[in-house]
Amino acid sequence: MALSKHAIEEIKALPQRFPEIRSAVVPALDIAQEELGYLTPEAMSEVASLLQVDPGYVEGVATFYTLFHLEPVGEHHFYVCTNLSCMLRGAEEICEHIRRRIGVSREREISADGRFSYEEVECLGACEFAPMMRYAHAYHYELTPEKIDALIEAARSARPASARAGVIDRPESQEAEQGHGR
Ligand code: FES
Repeated sequence: MALSKHAIEEIKALPQRFPEIRSAVVPALDIAQEELGYLTPEAMSEVASLLQVDPGYVEGVATFYTLFHLEPVGEHHFYVCTNLSCMLRGAEEICEHIRRRIGVSREREISADGRFSYEEVECLGACEFAPMMRYAHAYHYELTPEKIDALIEAARSARPASARAGVIDRPESQEAEQGHGR
């Protein structure tokens, strides 16, 4: 799978925003993943070539951060924190609720319609709002089954990405965004 012309242009424009070319690797991989759903070896090579950085460095970045996927995930992917504070405040129940609602039996399994998946991640730095998760480039705090249901319903009523030929959705609001090592 090759990147679209639009994604290539976005990636090529990144270096001018950073003093160090290597700083552009994370946002470039993010653009590639948003377009393709996950990072294929070809996409990583393309990013390396577009930014003119060592392919091994790009691969190292992609494999370090849990927010990058090297295998397909659902179109809507929830990153649920299951570290201590979140676990003490019900993260396991949240994960169980997500599994039941999207019809999967384990993390990273993709729902039958291909639209949903979730994974359990380490602390996302918002412990005071536990339990929490990252989804659609935003943090969602003090999760309850009702909040999860509302997000899933909103996602189900949105058009599938496959119906939006060539269009990359950008989030309208970003409460917070950050990467975390594996
Ligand atoms: S333990 Fe969940 S955000 Fe820190």
